[in-house]
Amino acid sequence: MIIEKGNFMADKVLVTYFSVTGNTRAVAQKLAKVANADLKEIKPAKPYVGSELDYEDEKSRVNVEHNTDARPQMAAPVDVGDYDVVFVGYPLWFGVAAQIVRTFLESQDFAGKTIVTFATSGSSVEGANGEHLHGCAPKATWKTGRRFTPDVSEATLAQWVKELGL
Ligand SMILES: Cc1cc2nc3c(=O)[nH]c(=O)nc-3n(C[C@H](O)[C@H](O)[C@H](O)COP(=O)(O)O)c2cc1C
Repeated sequence: MIIEKGNFMADKVLVTYFSVTGNTRAVAQKLAKVANADLKEIKPAKPYVGSELDYEDEKSRVNVEHNTDARPQMAAPVDVGDYDVVFVGYPLWFGVAAQIVRTFLESQDFAGKTIVTFATSGSSVEGANGEHLHGCAPKATWKTGRRFTPDVSEATLAQWVKELGL
């Protein structure tokens, strides 16, 4: 997204996201379109499959990662060096961002950059604001994130981007 500031300054925007079942991806793709942003996926080195995702099983992969505050490895780095504004999208797992989002945030230098979170969920809302992640990128300027449903319209997302006043 090129945001005009005066006559010459411009911000470069990146939309990053982690998604297992496609809901967050659907929002990320629309957001990148309306914000005229680049789009990069946060991929796990080891994909989440089957019963690994069973949040009711306290021994499942997702439960163990959550309870141990794990940092699951990424398949490849997601570089944010070229960007001024980075949107970070994730599913809410146990009311907060999936742990790999912390891996990503801690892997990059966000000094001088703005981060805005967005999330999808079954019903949880609060963790979408991103506040629980601020410690993973303390040098960033954080803006309050929002929850969206996968069928959110491009118009709604465009209005949100406008309201953020980036
Ligand atoms: C391990 C796990 C934990 C979840 N925890 C929550 C939760 O606490 N609150 C909620 O509303 N939805 C929860 N969900 C549902 C997901 O947030 C929801 O399906 C999300 O849209 C999935 O995004 P994705 O398709 O991009 O992977 C959970 C799903 C999984 C797999």
